[in-house]
Amino acid sequence: MLKVNIVDHPYAQAILTTLRDRRTPQIEFRKGLVRLGRVLGLEMVKELEVEECEVETPLGVRARGVRIKDLDQVVIVTVLRAAWPLTEGLVKVFFNAKQGVIVARRVEEKGMRDYEFEVDVAYVKVPAIGPESTVVLSDVMVATGSTAERALLEVVKHGKAKRYFLASVIVTPIAIARLKRVSEELGIDLALYAVAIDPVVNERGYIVPGLGDAGDRAFGS
Ligand code: URA
Repeated sequence: MLKVNIVDHPYAQAILTTLRDRRTPQIEFRKGLVRLGRVLGLEMVKELEVEECEVETPLGVRARGVRIKDLDQVVIVTVLRAAWPLTEGLVKVFFNAKQGVIVARRVEEKGMRDYEFEVDVAYVKVPAIGPESTVVLSDVMVATGSTAERALLEVVKHGKAKRYFLASVIVTPIAIARLKRVSEELGIDLALYAVAIDPVVNERGYIVPGLGDAGDRAFGS
């Protein structure tokens, strides 16, 4: 099952605008992704299990509070390279997270067919995932969903988690349709978090209006 969450907070929307702006320099672009990672992480926390607890304050009195139980069970899997700064922001929220990486690229030389790319996976390193795990897949631009689909297929090989979150900045209706199908086929609960749904994937597989090539803008071409 797929749930789509679009973060329309003005703070997130303002950062997205900076990212879309072609004049934004590399360092500011990366910083924007880090900030959005933190915002997306905070949204995800709303879905995690919380338990009540009590602490004693320096005044020697008891104060009731909460502890986020699932925080210890988070596994972040980063689709390199563009999602690296997004993950840096996610880690500020999920500070205990175990981390994995997937090095994957769309084989753009072979072109896009029916809004699908062949995906070349060069390296996968994912920690063990169990029934209590919350997997956060970090993938900045989900244009056709081909890479995200392949990444999910790799992740589930490492065990079935309690829930799956996908942290992204811009997604498209085509990708949403693909992720809905994939989540149903895999029998997983997938919650997608993004800052915008852009309408178009162009003939080269780029999101329009989009923000360009996120990896190139964050790290250079
Ligand atoms: N990847 C990017 O970096 N940008 C797009 O528009 C699509 C995929």
